[in-house]
Amino acid sequence: MNIKLADPVEIEILEAFISPAYGRTIRDELDDQSFGLQSLAIAWDRETPVGYGFIHWPGPRELSVADKIPGCPEIFRMTVSPAHQSTGIGTQIIGFFEQLAKSKGFSSLGLAVSHDNERAYQLYDKLNFGATEVANFVSSYQQEKPDGNVVTITEKCRFLQKLL
Ligand SMILES: CC(C)(COP(=O)(O)OP(=O)(O)OC[C@H]1O[C@@H](n2cnc3c(N)ncnc32)[C@H](O)[C@@H]1OP(=O)(O)O)[C@@H](O)C(=O)NCCC(=O)NCCS
Repeated sequence: MNIKLADPVEIEILEAFISPAYGRTIRDELDDQSFGLQSLAIAWDRETPVGYGFIHWPGPRELSVADKIPGCPEIFRMTVSPAHQSTGIGTQIIGFFEQLAKSKGFSSLGLAVSHDNERAYQLYDKLNFGATEVANFVSSYQQEKPDGNVVTITEKCRFLQKLL
């Protein structure tokens, strides 16, 4: 397994692997990476991508969270292919971001997890992400369904933080 930052030369493979956020393309994500706003880490099994995660460097993306925990880079959209889950790839992606954040001089990392996603919460707890004062906030985003309909997904989340 090899974890590395996404490279624009891989764009076709990444477009086939990563479901784009509504209204955005993978090119938009790579542009934001080149501007230093975020990074996209890809886990590769030989030539095949099997997992990914993003980190937003300026701090939590939700303003209500950023007001309370300013300047803490936020890991988001952590995803591992179902066939590869529970083999340590998510742990390695987070470890990759921890090293990257330390090398950039950050002293903490954070992430939001839905109250309904107990298994992901267990992983973050195991990796020493702890509770913050943001124990309950609403995260909402739009998603395009295969039939073309756009739905708004609303999740109740907590924001966890790890000191580096
Ligand atoms: C959450 C996720 C990124 C973790 O990646 P992973 O590679 O499976 O994680 P690891 O193998 O490093 O660690 C596994 C641990 O994560 C937790 N976990 C979270 N979701 C899990 C899942 N769907 N399957 C298995 N374990 C999961 C468990 O605590 C597990 O511990 P265990 O293997 O000892 O039971 C991945 O399971 C995933 O893509 N889930 C679906 C999308 C999602 O929920 N993303 C997180 C949004 S906050």
